[in-house]
Amino acid sequence: MHLSALQVSLALAQTAPPFGQCGGQGWTGATTCESGWSCVVSNPYYSQCLQGSGGSSGTSTSTASPPSLTGIAVTAPTTPPSKDTGMLPALGWNGWNAYGCSISDAKVLAAANDFISLGLKDAGYEYINIDDCWPLMERDPTTHEIVPDPSKFPNGISGVAAEVHALGLKLGIYSDAGTATCAGYPGSLGMESLDAATFSSWGVDYLKYDNCNVPGNWTDSSNPQDGDWYNSNSAIRYRQMGAALAEQSRPFQYDLCIWGTAEVWEWGARVGHSWRMSGDSSPSWSYLTEIIGINVQYLSFVDFYAHNDMDMMEIGNGGLTVQEQRTHFAAWIFMKSPILLGTDLSALNSTQVSIITNPELLAFHQDATIGTPATPFSASASMPTTSPPEYYSGASSAGVHVFIINTSSAAATKTFTFANVPGLTGSGPFVVHDMWAGEDLKWNVFSVSKLFCYRG
Ligand SMILES: *[C@@H]1O[C@H](CO)[C@@H](O)[C@H](O)[C@H]1NC(C)=O
Ligand SMILES: *[C@@H]1O[C@H](CO)[C@@H](O)[C@H](O)[C@H]1NC(C)=O
Ligand SMILES: *[C@@H]1O[C@H](CO)[C@@H](O)[C@H](O)[C@H]1NC(C)=O
Repeated sequence: MHLSALQVSLALAQTAPPFGQCGGQGWTGATTCESGWSCVVSNPYYSQCLQGSGGSSGTSTSTASPPSLTGIAVTAPTTPPSKDTGMLPALGWNGWNAYGCSISDAKVLAAANDFISLGLKDAGYEYINIDDCWPLMERDPTTHEIVPDPSKFPNGISGVAAEVHALGLKLGIYSDAGTATCAGYPGSLGMESLDAATFSSWGVDYLKYDNCNVPGNWTDSSNPQDGDWYNSNSAIRYRQMGAALAEQSRPFQYDLCIWGTAEVWEWGARVGHSWRMSGDSSPSWSYLTEIIGINVQYLSFVDFYAHNDMDMMEIGNGGLTVQEQRTHFAAWIFMKSPILLGTDLSALNSTQVSIITNPELLAFHQDATIGTPATPFSASASMPTTSPPEYYSGASSAGVHVFIINTSSAAATKTFTFANVPGLTGSGPFVVHDMWAGEDLKWNVFSVSKLFCYRG
């Protein structure tokens, strides 16, 4: 893949949108805000663009606290996540990377209809997810429920859910394990039971639960006393919502948007179905290689009902060459991350649509008999190890798969020795199958075992 100098300088010159992320550990996106907004540190993992300078006065994040903190912290529930959903990594769409706070009923339903017209639903895509900024700034003063913004969602969230369900798809919503969301809308900390019941009554199927605006006494400054991060304040905030979701009649798929903090991979599967491994994605090759490099260290935690979330997709958002978009998709596939497309789907061209609907890659991702991801192997004894690794292999019900990515800054020839591929037994001969082209490579004749080869 080739990233030109021009694209690099454009990426650096970009500004983060209002309420967007502009810094934090591992952040490779824009670090400056639009005029009138400034980048304010929220914690070591997250800085965001807030209005004005300083960000501490007159911003929308200073919303009133919920009426009462009726949380169930004292009992620290241990309710496991539903087994009726979330066995396989989610396939869907989320509006944030495309629209940020400018979300609406029309944009959500357009994405749902694009799922049908572009063949995404047929390829297995299912979730249409709404991110931040969907409600009014204040809860209902009487019921204390979060209220959908009628200017964005004139038929409420229940109205969108009904239309999304009528298309045979599922609807996701967003809230936050703090007193306010990242953009300053009502958070669910202390209001978990009410909010989970509200989301369920609307017909919601998926919750992305963010980590902004956490009161000081709910954060973790060091290891929890017993050394188990499941018992950290962070985990307990997510456990409270998990227990509230489990009480609802609808099964919820539950994504812990905890930015790779509190060693979430250790306990995430006891609380939800997937968990974010980093801050927000950005449409840059540097983000892709960075998150691949982070995630590769934690692949042993991935299996059925347990998925490291590498964040929403950037295909279609510029800044990435076709090869880089292919690598982006393939890496989320072979690491079995949720894949939530993050763009205006109607603007994707045929090359991009064929990347995101590649049937053989999706079959690996959605394999119902083997839940583990591909993991790195050394291509040959003399091969130097790279960071992130470039050679991965994994088992699937269709055979052994090999995935090769190119993370170098120069064109490269990639070679490997069959004997070094874990799971390939015997001395061959093997059939090499190109998953992008969907065909066997011509120079192979005999089939003993199938080797699926991804060429990036
Ligand atoms: C490997 O990636 C670099 C950087 O994107 C690119 O210049 C090079 O052409 C790529 N090589 C191959 C074989 O794709
Ligand atoms: C933080 O303080 C609030 C308000 O006093 C209280 O309800 C909550 O239980 C505290 N959280 C923790 C983890 O101690
Ligand atoms: C689709 O867009 C990519 C850029 O993202 C471009 O390189 C490619 O040639 C386009 N394909 C078609 C068929 O227009």
